Amino acid sequence: MSETPTRPRVLSGMQPSGESLHLGNYLGALVNWVKTQDDYENLFFIPDMHAITVPQDPVELRGRTRRTAAQYIAGGIDVAKSILFLQSHVPEHAQLAWVLNCITGFGEASRMTQFKDKSAKGGQEMASVGLFTYPVLMAADILLYRPVGVPVGDDQRQHVELARDLAKRFNHRFGDTFTVPEPFIQKEGARIYDLQNPTAKMSKSASGPNGLINLLDEPKVTAKRIKSAVTDTGTVIAHDRENKPGVTNLLEILSTLTDTPVGALVDGYQGRMYGHLKADVADAVVARLEPIRARTLELLDDPAELDRLLAHGAAKAREIASVTLADVYNKVGFLPPLGTVA
Ligand code: TYM
Repeated sequence: MSETPTRPRVLSGMQPSGESLHLGNYLGALVNWVKTQDDYENLFFIPDMHAITVPQDPVELRGRTRRTAAQYIAGGIDVAKSILFLQSHVPEHAQLAWVLNCITGFGEASRMTQFKDKSAKGGQEMASVGLFTYPVLMAADILLYRPVGVPVGDDQRQHVELARDLAKRFNHRFGDTFTVPEPFIQKEGARIYDLQNPTAKMSKSASGPNGLINLLDEPKVTAKRIKSAVTDTGTVIAHDRENKPGVTNLLEILSTLTDTPVGALVDGYQGRMYGHLKADVADAVVARLEPIRARTLELLDDPAELDRLLAHGAAKAREIASVTLADVYNKVGFLPPLGTVA
């Protein structure tokens, strides 16, 4: 391999598909990106090409993309330490995805559970081919940069597994090319559940807004949603995913935000009511999200500066991505364009 990073590299991204990132994105991914920012060479990008695998309004997509970038920075991504960029600014993602499409089995792609879930919603006939090959583009996003790890929430495990399989397959057929990346999934916050339906993961596409905590919601909306979270019959505050999924979700949110083990929280709530727990969770979430929201809005006041940061990030990302793509093109047997050396 031609370039070796000085620190091990990680890469991850979040889709710009909603009005705001949500608490699951924040606790499952962003918090962990920020926590280890000094330990790795970091690439954090916005998969805007993934967003168009389902219909998007072009004006809204542009707005959501800038808003996502602003939330990365407001949430703690430091552009002096991390490369921040848009997927569509680095054409090598689509170019590598094509090569990987050609070594992915149809059956293998058909087994991806997120495709099955998403396509089931609108009917398989209506699902785009882009949605079907989505995990292959994600594998390209990852493998282009040869990272050791991909910090994600639990729902992305299967996709990272596909990236690993494709890396191994390519290396086996064409010689050592890709690093086989590990999913970096924290125990805490790896899966945050919907507040109204605490057996389903919190998600932008959930059935109603009341189960969702958005980073950009007004603090009073956030507090109200937490205080109206579905709990369970009974009164005892216990960590029990089977029988008390609502209370368990609230405990896990509080544990992640306050860095307190769930067991210690449960001990502290002996003899207290669900209402006490909800009030504490609401306070902790609002205290954490309020400054992020304020900083995001400030950053969005200067879109030209955001665009400049993204352009700078894309140039740095391309320096890495172009080297990997040239290596891959050469290995699969494409003739180099005239005037370049293979
Ligand atoms: P996306 O945009 O759905 O989610 C972004 C990140 O948030 C995590 N996450 C959650 N974590 C805990 N609880 C939840 N309820 C929850 N909901 C979401 C996700 O696990 C993810 O880490 N396919 C990816 C985007 C992507 C990507 C990549 C990620 C495209 N290319 C390359 C890593 C590397 C996705 O749709 O994530």
